[in-house]
Amino acid sequence: MSLPIAGVTGAGSGIGAAIARMLGKRGFHVIVTDIDLMAAQKVASEIANAEALQLDVSKPDACNALVASIVEKHQRLDVWVSNAGISKMQRFVDISPSDLARNFEINTYGVFYCGQAAAKAMIKLGTPGRIVNTASMAAKQGRVPFLADYVASKFAVLGLTQAMAFELAPHGIRVNSVCPGFVATPMQTRELAWEAELRGTSSESVKEMWIKDTPLGRLETPEDVAKVVGFLVSDDAEFLTGESISVNGGAYMD
Ligand SMILES: NC(=O)c1ccc[n+]([C@@H]2O[C@H](COP(=O)([O-])OP(=O)(O)OC[C@H]3O[C@@H](n4cnc5c(N)ncnc54)[C@H](O)[C@@H]3O)[C@@H](O)[C@H]2O)c1
Repeated sequence: MSLPIAGVTGAGSGIGAAIARMLGKRGFHVIVTDIDLMAAQKVASEIANAEALQLDVSKPDACNALVASIVEKHQRLDVWVSNAGISKMQRFVDISPSDLARNFEINTYGVFYCGQAAAKAMIKLGTPGRIVNTASMAAKQGRVPFLADYVASKFAVLGLTQAMAFELAPHGIRVNSVCPGFVATPMQTRELAWEAELRGTSSESVKEMWIKDTPLGRLETPEDVAKVVGFLVSDDAEFLTGESISVNGGAYMD
């Protein structure tokens, strides 16, 4: 019997890499995808059963072609995690139309394109697949500084998750989101520098502020998020769909 197949986007770094490693440990053959092929290859090389493929999630034809190539090679697709995302901190009044567009192309359209390609394949294969989208704490509250375009793009992911879950339920496909908080990744390092500059303070003091804002009293790790994704794709979550699970140490409770 062949291993179950799981695809992860933006898996060359941070949260996506942790999700890929977690899925590998749980017995999946992991398709580690990223716009940065070398980063994906490095992560795949650390996983027992994995392969790396280049994917820019903002390109619908590329998403369809990549999923088709997985199905052609493995004849199955069990799990899809749409995790790739970008951020750029700036004041709402300074966000350009092109920054806004790029944000939506990756954070929202990318989740749509990949989810659509994965769902089409799962339906064709008759697989009761599981899809997980990485949203954010900023998908549930707009009280987030300097990330208006990101907030809008992530709120959209929550609506999309529900619509996908509703339409795909008759096919036995479950769709959920995870909403991380302040996760220590390269994205966070960039955000610490931006926020420090915008507030006229240091990265260290922004970091302290974020930790103070987190009742469980530390920054989140990529593994904290990966464990919840592991739960969502497991049979323990077999009656769970359309949900957006906060995993943020209590930084935002809803
Ligand atoms: N770090 C946090 O605090 C945090 C909090 C909430 C949500 N998130 C979300 O988690 C996800 C992962 O973030 P991270 O912190 O690991 O960031 P990261 O920057 O460390 O990793 C993101 C990865 O996505 C890849 N990527 C960028 N554009 C892409 C594209 N067009 N197509 C495919 N891959 C692309 C990058 O190459 C990178 O490897 C994102 O969706 C992010 O919005 C992060």
